[in-house]
Amino acid sequence: MIETRAPATAATKERDGPMLRLEGLRKRYGRFEAVKGVTLDVPRGEIFGFLGPNGAGKTTTIRMVAGVLRPSEGRIIIGGDDLLDSPARAKSRVGYIPDRPFLYEKLSGGEFLRFVAGLWGRDGAEAESRADRLLELFRLSEWKNELIESYSHGMRQKLLITSALIHQPEMIVVDEPMVGLDPRAARVLKDLFRAFADQGGTIFLSTHTLEVAEALCDRIAIIHEGSIIALGGMDELRAQAQAGGAHLEEIFLKVTGGEAMADVIESLREALDP
Ligand SMILES: Nc1ncnc2c1ncn2[C@@H]1O[C@H](COP(=O)(O)OP(=O)(O)OP(=O)(O)O)[C@@H](O)[C@H]1O
Ligand SMILES: [Mg+2]
Repeated sequence: MIETRAPATAATKERDGPMLRLEGLRKRYGRFEAVKGVTLDVPRGEIFGFLGPNGAGKTTTIRMVAGVLRPSEGRIIIGGDDLLDSPARAKSRVGYIPDRPFLYEKLSGGEFLRFVAGLWGRDGAEAESRADRLLELFRLSEWKNELIESYSHGMRQKLLITSALIHQPEMIVVDEPMVGLDPRAARVLKDLFRAFADQGGTIFLSTHTLEVAEALCDRIAIIHEGSIIALGGMDELRAQAQAGGAHLEEIFLKVTGGEAMADVIESLREALDP
């Protein structure tokens, strides 16, 4: 398994500009503003982690980047193409793994993958062998001809990951990738992400698993109530949170108002007192 952390060369990044650029991105649901002007660049070859408390706006942002939710304001540029002006070109660069996927229960895994490949106009032997290699990696090959309705949660997640990679995207956009995966599959996925990034691919992921973020992500943004409140590599986050030497958990709790934790624990103690 590939373990190196060599990023895309500075020359490649310079030439092609960022893989993803968000400019003043906003999303309103009625009067409620879930995403309040997010601006950031993600260079090629980077694994970028999007963290934040429940309801912070991660999924909303990710769905806008994947092109399934229309922003209220702002721009999304993917590989130089504006998602609103050139949706087909921008979207073809992206493999999206949603948090609440829709799968056709009455298809087999193999049929589903062929269906997805067909949507991208890739119904040849190449897409099939690519899918087979990924299924093999996830130890899902034996299930290829079984109906999706018989798949466990983790097996569905593995199938989805495979389907998102079938058209050879330049960027993977994934909401909570590790949920439901067993330790081996989680490891395979981490190595796969690293290998993908080493080849110049970009990963934009949301996660609540802070150890994963800390170990895997080159840079992290913490979003809170729709705004980015901290951004950078681990050292920069520590500096921004004025938490020297701290782990991501402490930084996260500090910047998202975790001082209140002590009160919560005290109330819990009282509530649990027999
Ligand atoms: N379709 C919708 N209509 C109205 N409000 C919505 C809708 N979708 C999301 N919201 C609200 O937008 C805010 C952000 O939600 P979002 O799903 O982006 O959060 P999240 O950061 O992904 O949270 P979690 O960690 O729980 O997945 C929440 O307050 C949520 O209630
Ligand atoms: Mg979410």
